[in-house]
Amino acid sequence: MNYKEDFPMLNTDIIYFDNGATTLKPKCVIEAMDDYYCNYSSNAHRGDYKISIKASSELEKVREKVRNFINADMSDEIIFTQGSTESLNMIINGYFKNKLTEDDEVLITKSEHASNILPWFELENEINIKVKYISLTEDHTVTIDNVINCITDKTKVISLAQVTNVIGDVRPLKEIIKYAHEHGILVVVDAAQSVGHINVDVKDLDADFLAFSAHKMLGPTGVGILYGKYELLNELKPINYGGGMNVSFASPDKIEYKELPYRLEPGTQNIAGIIGFGRAIDYINKIGIDNIEEYCINLKEYLVNKLKNINNVKMYNADIEGSTLTFNINNIFAQDTAIYLDKYNICVRSGSHCAKKLEDELSIKNTVRISLYFYNTKEEIDKLVKALDNDKILEESLGV
Ligand code: ALA
Repeated sequence: MNYKEDFPMLNTDIIYFDNGATTLKPKCVIEAMDDYYCNYSSNAHRGDYKISIKASSELEKVREKVRNFINADMSDEIIFTQGSTESLNMIINGYFKNKLTEDDEVLITKSEHASNILPWFELENEINIKVKYISLTEDHTVTIDNVINCITDKTKVISLAQVTNVIGDVRPLKEIIKYAHEHGILVVVDAAQSVGHINVDVKDLDADFLAFSAHKMLGPTGVGILYGKYELLNELKPINYGGGMNVSFASPDKIEYKELPYRLEPGTQNIAGIIGFGRAIDYINKIGIDNIEEYCINLKEYLVNKLKNINNVKMYNADIEGSTLTFNINNIFAQDTAIYLDKYNICVRSGSHCAKKLEDELSIKNTVRISLYFYNTKEEIDKLVKALDNDKILEESLGV
């Protein structure tokens, strides 16, 4: 498929391989936001005039689209946030902080993103819970057996990315959640790298909480989703208080808050962003999520096979099916590789990718990451390979 007509950025000379950080935006998303700003700019759920009623209705249509996209039971289970980070912090500080007590155990892995580690660390510091790591396999993945081996009678929560942002492995969450529930354990899913890449069905997974961001699936930055099963979400205490989430407040002992979802959405929402996000979902639905997954798997395979022919490339997750490849060029610092590739207008990410505990597993701190999406092409990969298979990188990076 040719997406050049739809994505303004694909008409530049940039080759964009940093989709794990954020994806490009199609014109229809930008236009939907423009339309709101140009034609019915107003607040939502606060005005009794036509354009505000339209803004409210467009916003609620998106909530329903999101519900449908992840197959949640009710649109009241869909909370708009600023992104996965805020969603995870709300789950951890608004729900688990009030439910967990000293010595309760939370299982994560060293492959998690900072947003699924730091809030738990802070909770350990604050209320003395214990954060424990599920061991990973040699290829840095999670198995149900490794999860089971780590569970004790103190385990209360398992909090895992569905797809990790550096290794790109898809965790066997359905199996893990089933086992967890049989043992009275709740499961939080960080779906930042999975929604928009693979089919995510919260009912099929039986996920208790799930967090993701619009900007990693063609939508704008500053919009995210917090999904929770209604009965759990209903017990999540707001992190922020203000307008739009209350019915009345006369004094500290006379406060009435709204029902879900509004109770967890204080203040003015990113209305334009949410409307743009709705268009992004339409766009993904038009292509088909299974087609996106299959295309990315094939493209990664193509990339791996090409890079295998370059002597000095060390790949860390070549055998993992998905859209992410993490590598280094022997003897070259990851950031130097990224800066070198930028001379060819090739955008990749280097460093620890916000997954700083992963260095214990990989035995290396900094890597280069290529994260693909459905608009990337084999031709772009050929250009990358040509740039890497070139003595220039050694000359420029090592001065030899
Ligand atoms: N979490 C984003 C990434 O993995 C920013 O690059």
